[in-house]
Amino acid sequence: MMLKKAQILNFTKLYRFGQPFKTDAVVRLVDDGGFEPIEAPLITIEGMAVALCKGGIAMTISLSPEDRVYGLGETVGALNKRGKKYRLYTTDDPVHTPDKENLYGSHPFVLVGSALTNPFGFFIDYPSEICLDVGFTNHNVMEVVIPSMNFDIYFIRAEGRTLTFMEIVKEFLLLTGAPYCPPKWAFGYQQSRWSYPDAKSIAETATRFREEGIPCDAIYMDIDYMDNFKVFTVDEEKFPDFATFTGKLKSDGFRVIPIIDPGVKIEDGYGVYEEGRRRGLFCQTRDGSFFKAAVWPGLTHLPDFLMPETRRWWGGLCKKFLDMGVEGFWLDMNEPSIFYTPEAMQEVFNLVDEIKKNPDIPKRRLQDMLNGLSNNRGYFREFYHRTHSGGRISNEEIHNLYGTLMTQGVADGFITNMPGQRYFLLTRSSYVGLHRYAAIWTGDNMSWWEHMIAHIRMLMSLNMAGVFYTGADIGGFGSDVSPELQIRWMQLGVFSPLFRNHSAMGTRRREPWAFDGQALDIMRDTIKLRYALIPYAYSEFMRSVRELSPFIRPLMFDFDCRFDVEDQFMYGGSVMAAPVILPNATGRYVLLPAVSWLYCRASGHSAWTVSVIPPGVHYIDCPLDSTPFFIKENSILTLSEPVNYIGEREIDVLRVAAFVTETASFTYYEDDGLTDGYKKGVYCTIQIDIASAEGQYDISIKAEGAMATKITRIDFEIYDRNAALWRCSRHLYN
Ligand code: GLC
Repeated sequence: MMLKKAQILNFTKLYRFGQPFKTDAVVRLVDDGGFEPIEAPLITIEGMAVALCKGGIAMTISLSPEDRVYGLGETVGALNKRGKKYRLYTTDDPVHTPDKENLYGSHPFVLVGSALTNPFGFFIDYPSEICLDVGFTNHNVMEVVIPSMNFDIYFIRAEGRTLTFMEIVKEFLLLTGAPYCPPKWAFGYQQSRWSYPDAKSIAETATRFREEGIPCDAIYMDIDYMDNFKVFTVDEEKFPDFATFTGKLKSDGFRVIPIIDPGVKIEDGYGVYEEGRRRGLFCQTRDGSFFKAAVWPGLTHLPDFLMPETRRWWGGLCKKFLDMGVEGFWLDMNEPSIFYTPEAMQEVFNLVDEIKKNPDIPKRRLQDMLNGLSNNRGYFREFYHRTHSGGRISNEEIHNLYGTLMTQGVADGFITNMPGQRYFLLTRSSYVGLHRYAAIWTGDNMSWWEHMIAHIRMLMSLNMAGVFYTGADIGGFGSDVSPELQIRWMQLGVFSPLFRNHSAMGTRRREPWAFDGQALDIMRDTIKLRYALIPYAYSEFMRSVRELSPFIRPLMFDFDCRFDVEDQFMYGGSVMAAPVILPNATGRYVLLPAVSWLYCRASGHSAWTVSVIPPGVHYIDCPLDSTPFFIKENSILTLSEPVNYIGEREIDVLRVAAFVTETASFTYYEDDGLTDGYKKGVYCTIQIDIASAEGQYDISIKAEGAMATKITRIDFEIYDRNAALWRCSRHLYN
């Protein structure tokens, strides 16, 4: 076993096994001189027993009874990973039942610890399958199997002091880079649907939002816009004059986000196919011919995104859309998803022929063969990528990087074509490192209450992996949704950075007006609440990015709390979300840690019923028309009047809702929302301090920064320990 070790940052040690493939996950690189060799035989590193197994390495970690295991980004199952097996191998599996071991992404970053033990974290930088048995076989043992002798493991732990979970995540982000910041409009509501058939239907949907007075910032275009599902084409009949169409939507405050899939249809005369073929930019089989995979357009070639030339080509192809007014893309099917290969389909035909001749062959064989067609593991061993050194490597060996490499190409396309501008980029498959330049959504969930809970857990786990801006399809993608579930999920959406309503073709429509009048009113109010909260959410999101601390996190991260709470979460520093997650419920139990909380039952952006609740476990009422959330004692929330879309008009009046028993502080943040200027300090802040002083409040406000704030007045609503309200206004003179 070839092994060496290097110290990186304050708390991280890198153990390098063999010669790992360079994944680009880590930004803090170590040169060869930075390593010290480790003499074999090695039995333990950092308390983990290391052993050879099945062509690779197995690491065993003992867990103490109170240890929590967090992380792993996008996975099925609980927030605390203990008691389940996971397989980090990106796959397009649309049915996320509890037994599933893998989904679309691979985020091999794990945090282990508790209030009683010294927490640590580790990141295994390896781009193919990693299997984890986290206390499934034996509750007190975690076993990690990496079927390779070539990988890096970064181990994060402090010596001589205890790291908090927050500090471990921060160290991981120092290692892998700061999270991606979308443009500010991405914090608005977004509408999507697989099956908007043409430009007219999209334009009508947009108009309806404005007529109904429901805020919305973006509309998505699913594969229906393409000519026969050929990527980078537009069906001219259904979408005539594309640039005028996007221009009109933009003038009404809607950004247009088309989908891009990787598979390039094999069709003579189709420019993208012909160019990719001529330049040799597709993945190849062992014999050097281009690999064929069936996806939506029928047979396609898969671009070889490992080649920088292919990524540049792909990024360049996006330009045509940018020139037509598109400001974001949605990248799909990039695990990569393969419905079947011609060879696998031929085997099905052969079996059918056999069955025709011999009816005694059990039909089950055909059923099994059909079930195994989609995303069969064998396909990924059959095609190859070209490496920098002119060699080749099978997809199987770097499988989890495919979506990330595709996304990198598009991100670079944006950076080249829109220098200095922020872009919107959402992708389905991901590996660590992608969080620096794109967002992910969590794929094809279902309209199930269980998947609403999964949304909450993934928000927290993905934030730990650096993907701060993320979310699930609100209402569930597959199957029909009830109005109640849609409403409750919208209420969760208020606190989901990506707030996108998306659904599958053939399912019940999800636009707010697709339900009864009462449901429509509630959804309108809910979306308005989201917009009202943007001055808070955006301030806290940008702070999280600057400070490298998760925007959304479990209570365990903020409070010295031993309780496992998986359906409540901190949303920035002042707010805790506690959505109603059960059908027919008109309330729920909440755990309120450490301090008192101001419970806000919000029917819309201004009609709130508030009460102060002491720490402990409580049942709170929350009828269907209200969104529940809590303001932490001695905390401040900044709000504004909702707009129809971000940027519709200047926000010059800030509303402050605060719960103050002693002192509270908040830093309101403002920038242009569209450029990278924030990275160079082009933003401004208003420091707000409130101190309770015998029935009155001392208020101090101080604006500073490289730009002038647009805020001219702040209206304060301050609640005391009895929820008694005190109001006042202050002017800012810039
Ligand atoms: C995949 C995507 C889904 C999209 C559909 C059609 O299932 O996950 O979001 O609507 O393909 O493009």
